[in-house]
Amino acid sequence: MDSRAHAQILVVGDAAALAETAARRLVARLTRTERAAICLTGGSSPLGLYRLLAESPWNGEVPWDCVHWFIGDDRFVPEHDPLSNMGAAKRILLDRVPAPRPNIHPIPTDAQNPESAARLYEQELKRFYGADRLDTKRPLFDLVLMGLGPDGHTASLFPGSSALEEKQRWAVGIAKAGMEPFVPRVTLTFPALASTHEMLFLIDSADKGPILKRVLAGEDLPVRRVYADGELVWLVVRAAAPGDMK
Ligand code: 6PG
Repeated sequence: MDSRAHAQILVVGDAAALAETAARRLVARLTRTERAAICLTGGSSPLGLYRLLAESPWNGEVPWDCVHWFIGDDRFVPEHDPLSNMGAAKRILLDRVPAPRPNIHPIPTDAQNPESAARLYEQELKRFYGADRLDTKRPLFDLVLMGLGPDGHTASLFPGSSALEEKQRWAVGIAKAGMEPFVPRVTLTFPALASTHEMLFLIDSADKGPILKRVLAGEDLPVRRVYADGELVWLVVRAAAPGDMK
């Protein structure tokens, strides 16, 4: 699936503009429904957005009671561990705003192992969704935030992983990460990530330029296999954009 075929690429000035644009798109998604589901991402790319949403004026724009917060992948570490993606999202955003605790859905990384954590999370997602099969006309998420790793991975879907072929399960355990931090992971699969009104990639720094160039040139990297039932948008800072898009 050529993700660029129907992807929209929006070039923005810098990381601050990227965070603003992402905040605007996220809030726009929330006002269209009385119960919204946002799937957060890990790494450093979303942190500017999280900081923005935690502060005025954006923290006044989010109907906190109506929004549920999930995470597309996490490291299999305790939530207080600095490596935890949901731990970071809580520290920087969710613990600083009136987001009801039952609306925050971390991957249960205190489970016995990544696989059991993935199965528990899949059950939680199905309970929230209200069905065991995803319907492209009724996406699970309103917005899925995504990052891009220097090896072309996204979420915790790494090159060569059998998880790239998963078509049925909504979440799987990743025993060996393909990049640091080399800790086991739990990740949503392509079908679960695709079940969204909007998938929004955050390419927030110049150092993503080389890998983005490889992706756009058509190299078979995990991120090229993503697809979305709804809009697929790449937010790219100018410093990372290929020459013809700057
Ligand atoms: C993770 C992320 C991962 C991340 C990319 C980009 O658990 O690390 O979910 O997929 O989005 O590796 O990471 P940066 O945003 O730190 O560049």
